[in-house]
Amino acid sequence: LVASMEQVEETYIMVKPDGVQRGLVGEIISRFEKKGFKLKALKLFQCPKELAEEHYKDLKAKSFYPKLIDYITSGPVVSMAWEGVGVVASARKLIGSTDPLQAEPGTIRGDLAVQTGRNVIHGSDSPDNGKREVGLWFKEDEICQWTPAQAPWLR
Ligand code: PPS
Repeated sequence: LVASMEQVEETYIMVKPDGVQRGLVGEIISRFEKKGFKLKALKLFQCPKELAEEHYKDLKAKSFYPKLIDYITSGPVVSMAWEGVGVVASARKLIGSTDPLQAEPGTIRGDLAVQTGRNVIHGSDSPDNGKREVGLWFKEDEICQWTPAQAPWLR
């Protein structure tokens, strides 16, 4: 039972095009590094429309869906895979509420964004989606299996 509570998870984190254009990449990566999670993959990437549609396929029926696809494909994003115990929920806490005006100060959106349609970052909403999204955005050989020398407890 304890083992299941300590399940190592992975999450897909993406600095959206507005975050890249505003020069927030370093600041955002820094928050995850300082928290202590393990970075497994990282790239600057121009997302093709088909991939954006696959990533957000559950939102197809929403009125904002076309705008969301346009936004995500409007310029390069920074894609990351982070690993750790509880990383999915913890990353969502670091990111803050979807609507940046509702996001608490101290969170990424609370500190750095104003509009839901320009909320600078994405994080997977469940461990299953973490796996799905990391698999969708990264090829197998883009993901590093490694043990940080200064923090071998980061599995
Ligand atoms: S919903 O309606 O509850 O399913 O939506 P939610 O979980 O809040 O958000 C799902 C993703 O859609 C983005 N979103 C929007 N984008 C543009 N415009 C509007 N109005 C809008 N509302 C929600 C939201 O940021 C989520 O994307 P990610 O990339 O996961 O942040």
